[in-house]
Amino acid sequence: MTQVMAHRGSSGTRPENTLPAFSEAVRAEADGIELDVHLTKDQVLVVMHDEEVDRTTNGQGRIREMTLAEIKTLNAGSWFDKEFSAARVPTLKEVLDLLVQKNFRGFLNIEIKTDKFDYPGIEEAVSSLMMSQQWPFTHWYSSFNMKSLEKMHHLEPDTQLDYIMGTAESKVKQALERSFIEGIHPKINWIRESEASFLSFPKAVRPWTINESDDMLACFEQNLTGIITDFPEKAVRLRRGMKK
Ligand code: G3P
Ligand code: MG
Repeated sequence: MTQVMAHRGSSGTRPENTLPAFSEAVRAEADGIELDVHLTKDQVLVVMHDEEVDRTTNGQGRIREMTLAEIKTLNAGSWFDKEFSAARVPTLKEVLDLLVQKNFRGFLNIEIKTDKFDYPGIEEAVSSLMMSQQWPFTHWYSSFNMKSLEKMHHLEPDTQLDYIMGTAESKVKQALERSFIEGIHPKINWIRESEASFLSFPKAVRPWTINESDDMLACFEQNLTGIITDFPEKAVRLRRGMKK
């Protein structure tokens, strides 16, 4: 069965990468949750998509140039809807604690957001937090940056690693050449334009971002490993409907 992965939580219906977005993904019975991590100036792992706080908070500046205390003063929900004005930028630890509290038993896909900045030490910080206790869910890592995935492989040789890409065949080839890469996250166009060659692809394929019903159904019918969607509730419902 194709996994439904909630992209930045249920980011189509809640402010992305916030506790409400992750709670909603659990409520919607997503099989997995994807989130993005960065390191603050004082070396704390925080969950946000962009390198700057500008788009998804009422603040300005780069995460790597701000302390956690500075980031915690920001409103991370009102840009989406004033109903979410209490939402703050969560630390990775706060998200993990929420998922434990919500009895989440699915997959947590932690994306190491090192495509623009290296964030020295981020791989060690993530691994050290994830290995610090036994979590009741399975975690894995993804990144656009192969160097980060190589570091994660060194730190956690048994943890699943997925390579994120656009549609470039050179990236697909890089993934194929590395046995420690379990799967790829290609942009949806790769699926739409590949004339079904992905059906015989020897690794897991989890495209992003699958938000339209037609695309969801096509991925389910082709039995792809997973889809990464902003609308996990809609995807889970559609998948349920197909089984009837
Ligand atoms: O894993 C797929 C997806 O998260 C990649 O895109 O930019 O939303 O992190 P982005
Ligand atoms: Mg991501």
